[in-house]
Amino acid sequence: MDINNSVALVTGANRGLGRAFAQRLLERGARKVYATARRPETVDLPGVEVLPLDITDPASVRAAAEAAPDVSLLINNAGISTGTDLVTGSLDAVRLELETNMFGHLGMSREFAPALARNGGGAIVNVLSAVSWFGIKGANAYHLSKAAAWAMTNGVRLELAEQGTLVTAVHLGLADTDMAAGWPVDKIAPSDLADAALDGVEAGSAEVLADQWSRDVKSRLPLAPEEFNAAMDRALAALMAA
Ligand SMILES: NC(=O)c1ccc[n+]([C@@H]2O[C@H](COP(=O)([O-])OP(=O)(O)OC[C@H]3O[C@@H](n4cnc5c(N)ncnc54)[C@H](OP(=O)(O)O)[C@@H]3O)[C@@H](O)[C@H]2O)c1
Repeated sequence: MDINNSVALVTGANRGLGRAFAQRLLERGARKVYATARRPETVDLPGVEVLPLDITDPASVRAAAEAAPDVSLLINNAGISTGTDLVTGSLDAVRLELETNMFGHLGMSREFAPALARNGGGAIVNVLSAVSWFGIKGANAYHLSKAAAWAMTNGVRLELAEQGTLVTAVHLGLADTDMAAGWPVDKIAPSDLADAALDGVEAGSAEVLADQWSRDVKSRLPLAPEEFNAAMDRALAALMAA
């Protein structure tokens, strides 16, 4: 699919990766960009169509789908990371991560699938994470939600293949946004991440591994769990020491 002339909708477009997606979409010639946010007044990009949208609220998701019937490219970007562990952390926080990072994206895909079919098939981009594939103490609720979102992405891809909708999973290590502010390490620039994802869509890719960290993590998946965890401990220590 061509980004040029697409009609795109981006969730969480007021800051971080979502704002970079909206900006790069405009710069790459998208015909229309719906920039959505929980607080639409915080969207500051000229040239976009602003819509209110909370992806955890089914009525809000339905209203967005009704307001944007011409969408051909859905960017499921909005997400949260609450820094919650599974055994000792708040179960409400664990549920909120799943509600946002998995059910939020799934609800958007369900609500927008008919429009994508009407508009030629189009594409869905789910912004996942390398953390889809590894646990990390202090953020295991996030790992759970991104692993669930990865499985959801794989299932939705199979279910929407017949209507010609490309479903692209985007994995990354760290990007330079508010979410990763606590990590004083090298991070991918938001506009580079957006470009890698949009290049993947144009190439018809089911998966985009946007940085070396995500490529390295995926390459370790065949390891036994003990070896995998030890390799991840070493990689995280090296990352922090760099
Ligand atoms: N930054 C990283 O290092 C990194 C790494 C891997 C994956 N990711 C993923 O990349 C995506 C974007 O993250 P980011 O780094 O840009 O994070 P961010 O700077 O914290 O921005 C998160 C965005 O999501 C929005 N959002 C949160 N909950 C929402 C909801 N219920 N409905 C609608 N919007 C909601 C936020 O809106 P408000 O302004 O209203 O809060 C904000 O626009 C997320 O899915 C994240 O998991 C990020």
